[in-house]
Amino acid sequence: MSTSGAFGVQILSSGVALPQRVVTNRDLESLMDTTDEWITKRTGIRQRYSVDPAKGENTRTLGLNAAKQAIERAGVTGPDLDLVIVATMTPDMPTPATAPLIAHALGTNDAGAFDLSAACSGFVFSLNTAAALIGSGAYSTVLVVGVDLLSRHVEFSTRGRSTSVLFGDAAGAVVMRRCTDPAKGLLAQAMCSDGGGATHLYIPCDKDNMLCEDDDPEAFPLDQLRMHGQQVFRFAVSKFPNLIAETLDAAGLGPNDIDHYVCHQSNARILEAARQRFDIPTEKLRVNIDRYGNTVAASIPLVFDELNTEHLIKPGQKVMFLGFGAGLTWGSSLWQF
Ligand code: COA
Repeated sequence: MSTSGAFGVQILSSGVALPQRVVTNRDLESLMDTTDEWITKRTGIRQRYSVDPAKGENTRTLGLNAAKQAIERAGVTGPDLDLVIVATMTPDMPTPATAPLIAHALGTNDAGAFDLSAACSGFVFSLNTAAALIGSGAYSTVLVVGVDLLSRHVEFSTRGRSTSVLFGDAAGAVVMRRCTDPAKGLLAQAMCSDGGGATHLYIPCDKDNMLCEDDDPEAFPLDQLRMHGQQVFRFAVSKFPNLIAETLDAAGLGPNDIDHYVCHQSNARILEAARQRFDIPTEKLRVNIDRYGNTVAASIPLVFDELNTEHLIKPGQKVMFLGFGAGLTWGSSLWQF
């Protein structure tokens, strides 16, 4: 845990982009042996969005659309950006990274651009990275995008039902800028991992390179997400509250001092357990998984954008961003607005 540097940092704006196609739980009932009731009861998810590659929807275009909305709302233009970070675990191709393509499409002037791969923690890790680089004085205006298309790595069939019902495709973005008030910006942050839990949630690409000896490479297609749901659930319900407590401790704050908990949306039950543990009022911990599913690196900016466009984020407030996911990874980012 540490705080940022000499300069203040502000999150100026947000933007989102969603694929056109909505896939409801009822739609999934016709594709696999599942029910709306099973999905809703265990996860809180009612629908998710899914890209149609034939319509040109991909990681690059979805990320770019979210970025365009964020920079327009910030009142900046492409050339104002000096760094672009894209959090994604589903780039369109291994190289180039998604960030330089988005930076180019926005018309930046040779802005630094790189992807950051930390699954569902990717957006929080990117916020912390950007805040440190702005706070140190190295960069001034930074675009952070979170975009993931998990529909590429799940199978919409009974065989794939334990993962395909959970995930959705989306992009979200924020524009961050250096400011003269050093009180604004990061109050505390954490970026953590435990590769010992990597096999709980992974996408094998090569049968000779499986992470888990117990996983049969023939039993399920390569390039599809393998998840040990109950282990992930246990990891999340134990780690998530600890992360909140450690971040509050690092900032010398109590749970009531936080105005908004902006959390990764992986399961409504996991969020509810954390909310009850700290007695957080429901209006301080927004849950929108019912409409989007788990959108990985996009889930946190989707929540933030809802709060932002409803004008619920106000100057002087404290906002804690929290993410956890594959890797295993988990992290927090506590901001003074
Ligand atoms: N529809 C109907 N039945 C399903 C199903 C689906 N979509 N997916 C799995 N099932 C079945 C299983 O095959 C199993 O059947 P069996 O008892 O006959 O073997 C049964 O439902 C129970 O499966 P289980 O995996 O034990 O369910 P669960 O109560 O643990 O709930 C999750 C599954 C995925 C909802 C839950 O484990 C979870 O939320 N884990 C965390 C996942 C997560 O957050 N991942 C992302 C982290 S960023």
